[in-house]
Amino acid sequence: MIAEQLLLEEAEQLLEKSIIYYQNRPVGTVAACDQELIALNYDQCFVRDFISSALFFLIKGRTDIVRNFLEVTLQLQPKEKQFNSSQPARGLIAASFKVELVDGQEKLKADFGEHAIARVAPVDSCLWWMILLRAYVHASKDTDLVYRDDFQEGIRLILDLCLVTKFDMYPTLLVPDGASMIDRRMGMYGYPLDIQSLFYAGLCAARELLYPNKDNQKILKILHNHINLLLHHIRDNYWIDPQRLNTIYRYKVEEYGEHALNHFNIYSDSIPFHNLTEWLPASGGYLAGNLGPSQIDCRFFAVGNLIAIIASLATKQQSEAIFNLIIERWDDLIGNMPMKICFPALEDIAWRLLTGCDPKNKPWSYHNGGNWPVLMWMLTAAAQKIGKGEVAAKAIEIAEKSLSKDGWAEYYDGKTGRLIGKEARKNQTWSIAGYLLAKELIANPNHLKLFSFDEYM
Ligand code: GLC
Repeated sequence: MIAEQLLLEEAEQLLEKSIIYYQNRPVGTVAACDQELIALNYDQCFVRDFISSALFFLIKGRTDIVRNFLEVTLQLQPKEKQFNSSQPARGLIAASFKVELVDGQEKLKADFGEHAIARVAPVDSCLWWMILLRAYVHASKDTDLVYRDDFQEGIRLILDLCLVTKFDMYPTLLVPDGASMIDRRMGMYGYPLDIQSLFYAGLCAARELLYPNKDNQKILKILHNHINLLLHHIRDNYWIDPQRLNTIYRYKVEEYGEHALNHFNIYSDSIPFHNLTEWLPASGGYLAGNLGPSQIDCRFFAVGNLIAIIASLATKQQSEAIFNLIIERWDDLIGNMPMKICFPALEDIAWRLLTGCDPKNKPWSYHNGGNWPVLMWMLTAAAQKIGKGEVAAKAIEIAEKSLSKDGWAEYYDGKTGRLIGKEARKNQTWSIAGYLLAKELIANPNHLKLFSFDEYM
């Protein structure tokens, strides 16, 4: 008990130290306060990294910092149509920002991906931003902020960007590789689940946040239709369980026309049946990592599956099956540090072709099968959503043995996450805040309401 208390105190102190100030107001938290390694861009406030800190602050009644963050990131959002394609698109929310001193004056500097490794724009930022705005309104009851013209415009610009007419037949969002937490090439171009789950939650948030006046009627209707299409598309087509695996195994191919059963023309040889049928327990299932023309990525991705549960994108039965899988495949998915970002790792030729031989993403390292403590809060939230808090509590207990001892590492390597990540930063803020948030969710599952969604009506 005392050890646990000390750990919580240490985490709270470190989180406090990570806060960034702009014009004397707290506006966010840095990605990592690692003294030993060169900062790269870890001295910035990343939108996705700030979410766990923000939700924790909201729970603790510190709504001011979240409000400031939302205002600052909204100010940085490009509002004009760009005719120069090297400029960030209208509506985008930055991947990260920092406060710089220019001629003695504090200035905000945003990165929309133009400085990031491989220059990928973050697709997840604008989706997280809407989810956080909704959580802020729930926690603070400050509806004045969200109904302000600049916030309503900001939401509409994000929706314009996400719901744009495109060369596409699916309700999912078409994105390049590296557009989310996994921000390096990992064979995730197309329609990766991690983005689609956030897209779904972001759209549901937007529907609640848009003021229902006459001007917004059209967009609200479009939103409603889109949410429904996306919901059914993911539930029906991304789902993998033993029964569905068997259906896919016996699929006919090259079908033409409306009545085709194999909608995506999946060739069963592309699926690692041999491993998957051994690995998938009879009562387990999960949402596939990606789906497109003749492509179903059978890797398990944690963010996509956990957010799908939290947002009620997965059905109740699907959510339970995902947890059955986590329980039955505990060593693979939780191991020594909750939890694995994706499983299994890409190896050999797949690693070469799909990561472009990325040495940071070697098999069972970093994004390619590494374990990330930040995922603990999503695991806990998803577990509480389906009344399995004890599963998350067990995982947190495992993490508590190493978190402080290992200096709040960013990620872990190895099949069961036993090694501190080869290039992991220490004092990584979202590892710290992810733990604090997970503990709050265990103590009081009611906090889940801030960012979970009920079955869509
Ligand atoms: C790495 C991670 C990314 C995170 C950033 C800051 O680039 O891949 O998800 O936002 O570090 O922690």
